[in-house]
Amino acid sequence: ALSQKTIDIIKSTVPVLEVHGVTITSTFYKNMFSNHPELLNIFNHANQSQGRQQTALANMVLAAAKNIDQLESVLPAVVQVAHKHRGLGVKPEHYPIVGKHLLEAIKEVLGDAATDEIINAWAEAYGVIAQVFIDIETNMYESAKGQIGGWGDFKELEVVDKVKESDVITSFYFKAKDGQPLPTYEPGQYITVRVQIPGEKYMLNRQYSLSCAPGNDYYRISVKREADFEPNGKVSNYIHDHLNVGDTIEASAPAGNFILNMEETAPVALISGGVGLTPMMSMLETLVNSNSDREVTFIHSARNERVHAFSKEACEMAGNLQNGRCYYAYQDPVNKDGGHHFTGHFTKEFLAEKISNDTICYVCGPVPFLKNIVTMLSELGVSDENIRYEFFGPAMALEKV
Ligand code: HEM
Repeated sequence: ALSQKTIDIIKSTVPVLEVHGVTITSTFYKNMFSNHPELLNIFNHANQSQGRQQTALANMVLAAAKNIDQLESVLPAVVQVAHKHRGLGVKPEHYPIVGKHLLEAIKEVLGDAATDEIINAWAEAYGVIAQVFIDIETNMYESAKGQIGGWGDFKELEVVDKVKESDVITSFYFKAKDGQPLPTYEPGQYITVRVQIPGEKYMLNRQYSLSCAPGNDYYRISVKREADFEPNGKVSNYIHDHLNVGDTIEASAPAGNFILNMEETAPVALISGGVGLTPMMSMLETLVNSNSDREVTFIHSARNERVHAFSKEACEMAGNLQNGRCYYAYQDPVNKDGGHHFTGHFTKEFLAEKISNDTICYVCGPVPFLKNIVTMLSELGVSDENIRYEFFGPAMALEKV
């Protein structure tokens, strides 16, 4: 345990560091990657260049440091990050590397104020925080390996089918290249796909939600093509263009804690924007497969019919439920006369009609969509506990949307 003195030093320096959080982590990343370029095989370069990951790691270390004497309070956030780390192959031996460069960055930012005492206190605190991650992640690797057909890091999967779902979304079906069965997963989980793209110096990793219910002998991801200038689209566009039946990629075992809780019986709403519908498809199909009598409301927003994937499947599945409904909104519909969809964005009045305040809401989509929906649900009286969301890109740490 840390001494009271160490705790006091940490708590008194956090506010200073908070002001320089972004500077600390950008210094930290720059130095770490120049000393350990191999780590660029793990980190997302697009996130680095956009500065998003910097903020996430900095905020989380500072948030943890602030709560150093009651780390239980940050555990839920740690678990979510640990899923991501496990899905990326982050290992205990990486933590001292991160720690060393983080401390050096703290030293640089504090300048003369960085006494030995302060630096030693931070070294100790980082050690305690890192150990919390390491312990959780070690358990996650063990349990991933312990599943039937399971594995710890990356495994080669072979494309067994490629299906166009809309103008921009294409599904890829995978089996294990070695012929082993694939481990089961929870509806809502994702896999990390790792590819070596010709001309790229380092491997690139991206997370994709599994888009169908567990229980099949394959995995399916459904990937959106992005604009060419969008750095985050590099992997998506590469696999759209170059990954075909018979080709292989490397993948992590399924990870993530944005999952449908099948023990709950309250009404459930699955609310998605764009390609955020992929985990919802898995959740919806799981509800159908279990013959659930829950009240299920599937709500999806897309630019138009052409980019909308699974429009038929989702409505059919909702129709097969004892108590299921399905609604679509198109911002710029091809079919201008309305049809069975709404034109524009879902409004608070619409949500108020479809959702009661005991409805458990799962929300996934791009950040602006998510912010909008989560705000409306809160205003309608849905509790924080019943608003569960996941968005694309790195979590802005503990910041609430
Ligand atoms: C992502 C915190 C150590 C590699 C993240 C995120 C946070 C975080 C908050 C964003 C989560 C999200 O995107 O949802 C921390 C903290 C650490 C730590 C507090 C130390 C106590 C490490 C280590 C490694 C690592 C040792 C491996 C060298 C990554 C990677 C990502 C990530 C690769 C994904 C973002 C990207 O691809 O750029 N971490 N992390 N982290 N972390 Fe860590």
